[in-house]
Amino acid sequence: MQKHLSDRINNLATSQTLAMAAKTRELREEGKDIIGLSLGEPDFNTPDFIKDAAIQAITDNYNSYTPVDGYVELKDAIITKFKRDNALTYNRSQIVVSTGAKQSLANAALVLLNPGDEVLLPCPYWVSYAEIVKLAEGVPVEVPTTVENNFKITPQQLRDSITPKTKMIWYSSPCNPSGMVYSKAELRALADVLVDYPDIIILSDEIYEHINFVGEHASMAQFEDMYDRVITVNGVSKAFAMTGWRIGYIGAPEWIARACNKMQGQITSGANCIAQRAVITALEAPVSKIQYMVDTFKERRKLIISLLDEIEGFKTTEPEGAFYVFPDISFFFGKNLKGHQIDNATDFSMFLLEEALVATVTGDAFGNPNCIRFSYAASEDQITEALKRIKSAVS
Ligand SMILES: Cc1ncc(COP(=O)(O)O)c(C=O)c1O
Repeated sequence: MQKHLSDRINNLATSQTLAMAAKTRELREEGKDIIGLSLGEPDFNTPDFIKDAAIQAITDNYNSYTPVDGYVELKDAIITKFKRDNALTYNRSQIVVSTGAKQSLANAALVLLNPGDEVLLPCPYWVSYAEIVKLAEGVPVEVPTTVENNFKITPQQLRDSITPKTKMIWYSSPCNPSGMVYSKAELRALADVLVDYPDIIILSDEIYEHINFVGEHASMAQFEDMYDRVITVNGVSKAFAMTGWRIGYIGAPEWIARACNKMQGQITSGANCIAQRAVITALEAPVSKIQYMVDTFKERRKLIISLLDEIEGFKTTEPEGAFYVFPDISFFFGKNLKGHQIDNATDFSMFLLEEALVATVTGDAFGNPNCIRFSYAASEDQITEALKRIKSAVS
């Protein structure tokens, strides 16, 4: 009956993160003690003050359908947040709340892309970008970077990648998976190219905004000459440890927000009512309330970088944000390790899972075949033990 499935689903890649998770589960079921450094979610509980707001919302009978684009009170909290943290001014008709930033991305692709429209994806990019673009019949165009240039694209590379079919550019800063953060000056240099191409829409995914170890977060929409064509995507999954609550949002030009609202209204309608009430409280709180998680990630970053530096063959940048390290491991290509032939990052990631019992994600999933991703959303003990095992497996 497989033949009855649509081309749309048959052409969609299975998430490589999920493939690794399935293999991890299988090994765990065999009794193997796998250390998971593959997941893209904080290992903290949602803070109590947010949970309390959700409980209150249930008690207060928030149980009905919500406005498709979100409660007005939540949109106002988002508007205040954008102003406070990003110096960005949006009004209510420019905000759409969705079921996770992932839905915000899908809305954007579905309302903007026509078949054949190209979307520039600086590599490495978050796994779902390319598949969401393809789902909307767009064409993902990879713009490669390397560990040597800190995984950042240059203005010249951007210019060279643009064709008459380029409709959008999508990137995340801080970046999943590389941890790189574009400075305001670097974004300005990219904007200076984009001013020559006024029809290109920019999707700036800022979901890791608060997990930034190098200072000020910069947004593309802060530039007046870009503001009218930037979709700023954000959400509470990462900084507030709320991955399962599923709330993301955009600030965008009104015509795009209106289209996303229309699209969402026919697919899922408004996001979960209880989660929306809780997120009002989360966003209204001072950012200092979540700083303890950022500080912990910073300590772990130091630990994992120092341990990786001790192992030959791992070429690492110091990530500036998010909670990932993305070492280049091409040193191992062409080698045979404990009977495993390593020809690419997927082989190496699988080798680490089977021989070191450590789960990572292959860089192939992110458009960068020389690297693997470690998530350090894990305890210091787990990180230390994982890197000890890896060192022993590769030496
Ligand atoms: C860069 C990036 N954007 C968006 C998302 C999706 O976030 P959400 O949980 O809000 O759907 C993720 C989650 O891993 C991410 O890493």
